[in-house]
Amino acid sequence: MNHVSANLTLYNGVKISGLGFGVWQISPLHTAKCVRTAIKAGYRNIDTAEGYMNEKGVGEGVRQAMEEYGLKREEIFVSTKLWNSHRGYDKAMKAFEELYRDGRIKAIGVSNFLAHHVQALTEDSDIKPMVNQIEYHVGFGQVKSAEYCQANGIVVEAWSPLGSGGVLRNGELNRIAGKYGKSAAQICIRWLLQKNIVPLPKSTHEKYIMENADVFDFSISEEDMTAIDRIPYCGGMMFDPDSARS
Ligand SMILES: NC(=O)c1ccc[n+]([C@@H]2O[C@H](COP(=O)([O-])OP(=O)(O)OC[C@H]3O[C@@H](n4cnc5c(N)ncnc54)[C@H](OP(=O)(O)O)[C@@H]3O)[C@@H](O)[C@H]2O)c1
Repeated sequence: MNHVSANLTLYNGVKISGLGFGVWQISPLHTAKCVRTAIKAGYRNIDTAEGYMNEKGVGEGVRQAMEEYGLKREEIFVSTKLWNSHRGYDKAMKAFEELYRDGRIKAIGVSNFLAHHVQALTEDSDIKPMVNQIEYHVGFGQVKSAEYCQANGIVVEAWSPLGSGGVLRNGELNRIAGKYGKSAAQICIRWLLQKNIVPLPKSTHEKYIMENADVFDFSISEEDMTAIDRIPYCGGMMFDPDSARS
């Protein structure tokens, strides 16, 4: 069994693995197996949501992996997210801050908060979120939001780090990947790690799950980081929280 290496510390002292595994669009039937495979490959940070309908599978996968590989529950960080219908001041406060104060959750996070949303939230709540999960990938770097969070001690996680697979066909990305003897997916993930952003790649294939975790034996040069920063939009959702309807 592997163990991926980078760790980040949230401002409340909780350590999380700097590389996560996302389970959006993994069917409830296959989730436990994918999560177990991911933990075997070294992931210790699993990302799900109420809306993915597979939280139960995540729990089963974590339990199976703990038994199989002799891991303790506290070695695996699991994030879940409330669906939009649970938003609103009272419901959100009840759902997040009480559970945190009771010690039933280790950290509070938000998702799809742009810099001005984070600012408004922190002015209006007792506990600043520890994590903000936003869409961030090659061709769609939300630099302003990420830098605002990082400057305020909030860890940024990148959803769709491979642009849901779409960016992997980009010519410039593949040219750079060739230089390092790595895949385009590994370059996408490494590019985020070097920005201290936690990538949450998803895959249902063992080969890709392993490949996406094999990103700690090389680093991208400054020059190539800049070249990747300049790649224009080439895939992914480009989700705009300000115009989205719930
Ligand atoms: N907070 C939010 O609003 C939000 C929104 C969207 C996503 N998310 C989170 O972010 C996670 C990842 O996002 P995502 O699922 O959109 O996409 P992603 O991780 O950017 O890309 C996943 C796609 O890329 C393919 N893939 C994975 N590794 C590959 C590799 N090494 N080579 C070639 N293809 C590869 C996968 O194929 P296979 O599956 O067929 O292997 C899948 O089609 C989600 O699972 C979820 O946890 C959060």
